[in-house]
Amino acid sequence: MFYPFEMEHYLEKLLGERDPLLREMEEQALKETIPVVTPMVGNFLNLLVKMSKSQAILEIGTAIGYSTIWLARAAEESGGHVTTIDMNKDRLARAQEYFKRAGLQDRVTSLEGDACKILTKVDSTFDFVFIDAAKGEYLDYLYLVYPLIAPGGILVVDNVLFRGWVVPESQFAPKYDRMVGGLRQFLQELCQNPDFSTTVLPFGDGVSVSQRLGNEGFRCGGVE
Ligand SMILES: C[S@@+](CC[C@H](N)C(=O)[O-])C[C@H]1O[C@@H](n2cnc3c(N)ncnc32)[C@H](O)[C@@H]1O
Repeated sequence: MFYPFEMEHYLEKLLGERDPLLREMEEQALKETIPVVTPMVGNFLNLLVKMSKSQAILEIGTAIGYSTIWLARAAEESGGHVTTIDMNKDRLARAQEYFKRAGLQDRVTSLEGDACKILTKVDSTFDFVFIDAAKGEYLDYLYLVYPLIAPGGILVVDNVLFRGWVVPESQFAPKYDRMVGGLRQFLQELCQNPDFSTTVLPFGDGVSVSQRLGNEGFRCGGVE
């Protein structure tokens, strides 16, 4: 968190009480140090899906399904469907249990495996894509997901400022050099991409929001 904890706490309180299932998942994630989006980011995803009336929603990085539930609850209102991918079998099984308990099992399709492999086989397009998996692979996901985002579709990416370390001159342990470098490259590429209109929001762990404009003939990572 790179802004005062008090601010996060205050803004979270403004959201009001979350239902017991989401609270249980938050506590479980905290206990097991499973990184899930903050309630503020979850609420933001929910709002964006509802505002855009997105139908086909893709999530890369399910974990135990916390962000998926925020997305799927919005999809319930828009009549949409969420496809979510995770390579961790145990986490995905737990996510599926939570989807059932939330009554959202028919609203979500879970795909188990490496997103980098699965995405090469997907031939449908999506109105809304949320990326929240391995930070070092963000550029790979971008290149793979780019052709799958419908013109006008929305791309949201979590942790793009990673503890604020992505900001040049930040101090962090050398073991994070590669990941931080990768995130800087990812943001550079996304923000300069003329086929996306992008903003980066410094809340949560840094969230980018882009809309694909659908410019003809633009290349992204070799994809036309
Ligand atoms: C930050 S957690 C996702 C949290 C979730 N979006 C939430 O907020 O509730 C990242 C997840 O991405 C998964 N992951 C990492 N690399 C992946 C890959 N290449 N393909 C599929 N899943 C991946 C991990 O197993 C992990 O569960």
